[in-house]
Amino acid sequence: MTDPAHARVLVTRPLPEPGAGPLVTAGLEVEQQPVDAPLAAADLAALVAGQDALLCMLSDRIDGALLDAAGPSLRIVANFAVGFDNIDVPAATARGVLVTNTPDVLTDATADVAWTLLMAAARRVIEGDTLVRQGRWVGWTPTQLLGAPVAGRTLGIFGMGKIGRAVARRASGFGMPVRYHNRSRDEQAEQELGATYVPLDELLATSDFLSLHAPLNEGSRHVIDAAALAAMKSTAIIVNTARGPLIDEAALVDALRTGTIAAAGLDVFEAEPALAPGLAELDNVVLLPHLGSATTDARAAMAQLCCDNILAALAGDRPKTLLNPEVLDR
Ligand code: 8YV
Repeated sequence: MTDPAHARVLVTRPLPEPGAGPLVTAGLEVEQQPVDAPLAAADLAALVAGQDALLCMLSDRIDGALLDAAGPSLRIVANFAVGFDNIDVPAATARGVLVTNTPDVLTDATADVAWTLLMAAARRVIEGDTLVRQGRWVGWTPTQLLGAPVAGRTLGIFGMGKIGRAVARRASGFGMPVRYHNRSRDEQAEQELGATYVPLDELLATSDFLSLHAPLNEGSRHVIDAAALAAMKSTAIIVNTARGPLIDEAALVDALRTGTIAAAGLDVFEAEPALAPGLAELDNVVLLPHLGSATTDARAAMAQLCCDNILAALAGDRPKTLLNPEVLDR
């Protein structure tokens, strides 16, 4: 157990309110990075040396070398995200370092963005906005910017976790049958949402809208590749608010260009903030800058949860959203 009054915490980016306030109030020595840009790996390694806690972002790579640079004082890595593919959790566990994430508090915010992308792609919202804004709209015509119907169409969910379920729940208002694929069947989701479990190939072949909600790991990387896209309906629309590398982005550009699928809505990208060549030139894709959790409420709750987790870990208690409980249980 660390004496919180003397504990040091590195916060790698400016945070929305309450920020690191709860840590300062508790008397911790907080080293808050002032620049809202990712730290270079070498700078992060230098700054983390001797810290007791690290509050980091999706853009910070936390691997064995970084944990070694921190040294033996490091007790906890609190990730300001629900996804934790940026962290080598087994390496942290091996060094006795706790790892936490921010589930639950961003579920609705992210599900809302998935629906925003789905609707915007289906009804060609960005193309319409651009037409009006650029003064190229000559008035209503019966044939202008015809989109895809949403109500009653089949929604496919890949990854039926909390966010996947929240997206599926919203589909009931649109009278949409929900099909899903997951590592394992979720009978509770089936009962609550009337969702049907199907193998991945059937999900691909039957979804009018396919929304991705699986974590990124070696099993899910490029799950949507050229073959998967070819297996989808030519009228299908794909939505990704999970992690960019779930989709082979070059193959997606190809599929959108050639009409293999109809459209896409993307909040995440393979090599953020870079885009695959050709993606930004396509009209049938809606692009957002990773806004899934970007509401005032969700981001405040994420900051508070990170601080609560750090305070718990430094007090010798179990953080609320601990990813590697085996560190405490062994
Ligand atoms: C965040 C996210 O915007 O939580 C996640 O996994 O992708 C988003 O909520 C981002 O990760 C902030 O670090």
